[in-house]
Amino acid sequence: MAEPVIELTEVCREFPAQPPVRALDRVTLRVGRGDYLAITGPSGSGKSTLLNVLGLLDRPSTGSYRLDGVETTTLRDGARTRLRADRIGFVFQAFHLLSHRSVVENVMLAEVYRRRPGTIRQRRARAMAALERVGVAHRADFAPGLLSGGERQRAAIARALMGEPSLLLCDEPTGNLDSRNTEAVLGLFDELRGQGLTIVVITHEQEVGARAGRRVRITDGVPAEEA
Ligand SMILES: Nc1ncnc2c1ncn2[C@@H]1O[C@H](COP(=O)(O)OP(=O)(O)OP(=O)(O)O)[C@@H](O)[C@H]1O
Ligand SMILES: [Mg+2]
Repeated sequence: MAEPVIELTEVCREFPAQPPVRALDRVTLRVGRGDYLAITGPSGSGKSTLLNVLGLLDRPSTGSYRLDGVETTTLRDGARTRLRADRIGFVFQAFHLLSHRSVVENVMLAEVYRRRPGTIRQRRARAMAALERVGVAHRADFAPGLLSGGERQRAAIARALMGEPSLLLCDEPTGNLDSRNTEAVLGLFDELRGQGLTIVVITHEQEVGARAGRRVRITDGVPAEEA
């Protein structure tokens, strides 16, 4: 396998409850650079919990998570936040674009959390390049509400790409899209993967899973590789 981006070893995530909920149960998972992995599973099986752990938004209760070779479970909050900003882009079902900002401003805002040097003009140029990359530069000065669902999701992907992440984590990225826009987003994922990005997608949709190179199905917090 290619050099690993994600290495989870015996990861458990337990939530305190009566009795405790074991949302991830001794998960061992490796994802190589340039892999395109789809994660499926029934409601409550642990998909979002896994994505939160992978995205450094949550910590495992036990076990090890190495991201790009860095053991993350022992990092302090500040270092985890920097690692997340440097390595990970997020794409969500609901886009999460600010309605009172233009598309390009939304993309520029991705850098608020990064200490990246440069003037506003340089930031805008980087945002425009990201919008070019996803094919919606012609909508840069529109309000997000004027865009189609597919265009909005592509703008959200441009925002995720601003930090030049090595890993793109997507939670139901096509859940709000019709089949034509789903196809446009999946085509974009194919392209990004061709450029070396590692992509992990949570999905309920057969057609999304079918496009990924690898499929893992989680049941009761335990992932299993599918053919
Ligand atoms: N903060 C929490 N406290 C207690 N239990 C939790 C918490 N978060 C999640 N759980 C439980 O952990 C299990 C896994 O939840 P998770 O959200 O990962 O499921 P999911 O696979 O994403 O489901 P869905 O497809 O419905 O989004 C569920 O049984 C859920 O009730
Ligand atoms: Mg979920």
